This record gives sequence, C-alpha cells and structure tokens, in this order.
Amino acid sequence: MSPLSNLAVRDIETLVHPYINLASFRETGPLVIERAQGVYVYDTEGKAYIEGMAGLWCTALGYGNEELVEAAASQMRKLSFAHLFTGKSHDPAIELAEKLKEIAPVPISKVFFCNSGSEANDTQIKLVWYLNNARGKPQKKKIISRVKAYHGVTIAAASLTGLLANHRDFDLPLPGFLHAGCPHYYRFALDGETEEEFASRLADELEALIVKEGPETVAAFIAEPVMGAGGVIVPPKTYFQKIMAVCARYDLFVISDEVICGFGRLGTLFGCEKLGFKPQAISVAKALSSAYLPIDAVMIPELMYEALLLESKKIGAFGHGFTYGGHPVSAAVAVKAIEIYMRDRIIEKAARRAPLFQARLKALGDHPLVGEARGLGLIGGLELVADKTSKRSFNPQHAVGAAAVRFAEAEGLIVRSVMGDVLTLSPPLIISAPEIEELFNRLARALDKTLDWVKRERLTQA
Ligand SMILES: Cc1ncc(COP(=O)(O)O)c(C=O)c1O
Repeated sequence: MSPLSNLAVRDIETLVHPYINLASFRETGPLVIERAQGVYVYDTEGKAYIEGMAGLWCTALGYGNEELVEAAASQMRKLSFAHLFTGKSHDPAIELAEKLKEIAPVPISKVFFCNSGSEANDTQIKLVWYLNNARGKPQKKKIISRVKAYHGVTIAAASLTGLLANHRDFDLPLPGFLHAGCPHYYRFALDGETEEEFASRLADELEALIVKEGPETVAAFIAEPVMGAGGVIVPPKTYFQKIMAVCARYDLFVISDEVICGFGRLGTLFGCEKLGFKPQAISVAKALSSAYLPIDAVMIPELMYEALLLESKKIGAFGHGFTYGGHPVSAAVAVKAIEIYMRDRIIEKAARRAPLFQARLKALGDHPLVGEARGLGLIGGLELVADKTSKRSFNPQHAVGAAAVRFAEAEGLIVRSVMGDVLTLSPPLIISAPEIEELFNRLARALDKTLDWVKRERLTQA
C-alpha cells in the first residue's frame, strides 16, 4: 500500500466519515477529490474517474455547469439569505414552489422546503401525525415502510429506513415504525413463484400487518419507487398497483420518497410515474438542484394543507421549520436546474440512453461474481455472490463489495458498494453513450480483478 498523503493523514485525524468501517479506514485513508467536470472527478494526484454514482445519486447535470454556478452567484450577490419563518418570503422560494406544483405528477397544493432528504421524510411523518390529529384520529399514527428501504438518518427517518446498520446500537427504530416485506424477487420470491404472485403475496402480507396492528392505528405508507441504498431494488410487476389498493382500503396516506428517483433517474420526471402509482405526498431532493446546493421539497396535497390550517389556527402557529429551509441561493439554483431539465430535454435524452446502459449492465450478469444485474433507467445494481447457483452471499467480513470498489477506482471509476455486496451505479443523467461504454469497460475490468483476488484469497468457500 502506498504511504498516505499529508491530506489523508490530516483527514484521518480530524473527520468522522459516514458509512465506512472507521477502524479499517484508519489504514486505507480517504480518496480525496479536488475538482470535477462533466461526468469526471479528479483526485489530488490529477487522476480522472468517471463518477458512476453522480456523487450520491445526485449530480444529475454533472459537474461544472456554468448556468447553475451563475444562478448561485447572482442570487448570492442579490440576496444571500432570507428565511420563510413568521411570514417572511422571497422570490426564489415562491418561484420554485410554483414550478414544483406545475410539474408534479399528482395534485399538489403546497410545498415545504428543507435541506436534506432526511429532514423531508421527518417532516412527512410529522405532517401525517398532525393530519390525523386534525381529523380527530389521534390513534392513527403508525407508519409503514419496508425492509431495505432508505429514507435517511435523522431519528424518525432512520426509523423508516429498513437497514440494520442504521438501527443497530442506535436503539432504533422508534416504536410505531413498521417494516413491510422487501419487493426483491431475486432474494425473497418463493420457489416457483411468478413476479405477479410474489407481488400479490407482498400485498397480502402488508394487509395482514395492518390488520394485526389495527387499521385504526396505521396512518401512512412510504416507499421509494426503486429502492436505492437498499441495493437498487426494482419491484416486481404489478407490485405498486396491489400495494396501493391495500393502502386505499385502510385509509393509509401514501408518500413517494423520490429523493433518488425524482427528476429523471428512471426515465420519467418522477419515479412514481414509471412505476405506475399515485402517492398523495412526495419528497424530492438531490437532483432537484443537481446537488449544487442542499435543498429538499416536501410536496403536499390540499387535504394535508387544510389540516395544517386547522391545527395552526387551534395551536396558534405551525411549529415546524428549518433556518435554511428554502434558502434563496439553493432555491435559485433549483429553479435553474428545473429550467435546464425541461429546456434541454435532459430526461428524454437520458431515457434514450437507458437501453444501452441497461444492456451493458445486464451483460455483466454473466460474470462469475454477479448473482443478479438489475436496474431501470440510469440506475443499476450488481449483486456479487460467492455462488451463483445457490445465490450464497460472501461472508460480510471479507468485504468483497468494498474490494470491488477499490479495483474500480484503480480503473478510474467510482461506484459504491452497499450492504450485501451490491455495487450500485447512478451516473449523471448527462452521461453520453461513449461514456456509458467506457464506464462499463472499466467496471468489467474491475470485476475481473475482484474475481482474481477472490480466488487468490479463496473467499468463495462457504
Ligand atoms: C430515497 C432516499 N431518501 C432519503 C435520503 C436521505 O437524504 P439525505 O442524505 O439528504 O438526508 C436518501 C439518501 O440517499 C435517499 O436515497
């Protein structure tokens, strides 16, 4: 291993990094990124990498977009900060809320701004509780998400998240947060079950869960159209139609967490459009500003707004809000990003490149290390397994996914490994066809090197 750079040493001595084994990180150190352009990022040595994850599923318009930079700079010169508390407002927030209402896939009455996906989903939960208090249903408060869902890390959002690492030793989830079955056919379908039968079973299990808990106590269901951080899980055919019917039967408020899927990731503006379901409320973030600045929007229907009116009249104020929620500079950038998505037909063009992306992804399904290659639009996952026939996973201690990430980095490609050794891909939507080809050429070489290493270390043995 090459000696750590001065920056790396300073990093290790000063930062706590999310989502890393903090102990082994002290040996390996960070990959320090210095600059970026288009779909490429460059480290401090000047080495170029294709950003196969668009950062964290977010830099949809790529790096170095001068229009976004200019939108931020001119707004910062004009009005660097203003808030939305206590009746104050500003132009960028109003314009962005109008835009979001205009492009929403379902009727949206109002928009509430936060700074992160976690804050948005926390807000969604608080609004549902508020709603049911306003409706005189104070018992109806439990929220259902799903095993392997990712909805963030604040205490309530982490309770929605259905991943062990986000719960273990954090004393989570909180009571009142339930997790329905994960719609991953490859892992959870029974022998001989078709996709549609699997979807029906998941809907029946959801119904049984609601009945067991008492429908009068269950308030809402939240879902990502395609699960991202849980391992890029595309639900089976007819899943959402069946799940939505159950939610309607028991008067569950439905929230689509579009933090990853919103703004074209799946080939449609919103992910719920691609998956064919109609939520009542929506969370968007990440690509909303193409991650040039933090901003998130909670999009709510009239029914919810009426409840907020009622409660704030009763209590005297709507007691919720973040200092930087709807920050004018972030909002101005998001307005410009939406203008670019529409004007330059970014989503249509990305959808046209999706078949190439998916074909190259699915071809890697033949690789000896890959149990399943899955995806939709410009999102993909490769589940690495020790044995393709039995679908046996690697021992997590061997960190095979993390090793594959390092081999990819050596090839000049950034990918991520999430729990269960799933390599995830979510490049900027502006990626060109030749860049897609290059991304997969690099990934294929990285997989071959990972396989050589796995064989050398005899890691396939049970
Ligand atoms: C679907 C989804 N929801 C919520 C979040 C949380 O967003 P944040 O990290 O901005 O809090 C994420 C983050 O990746 C996400 O993928």
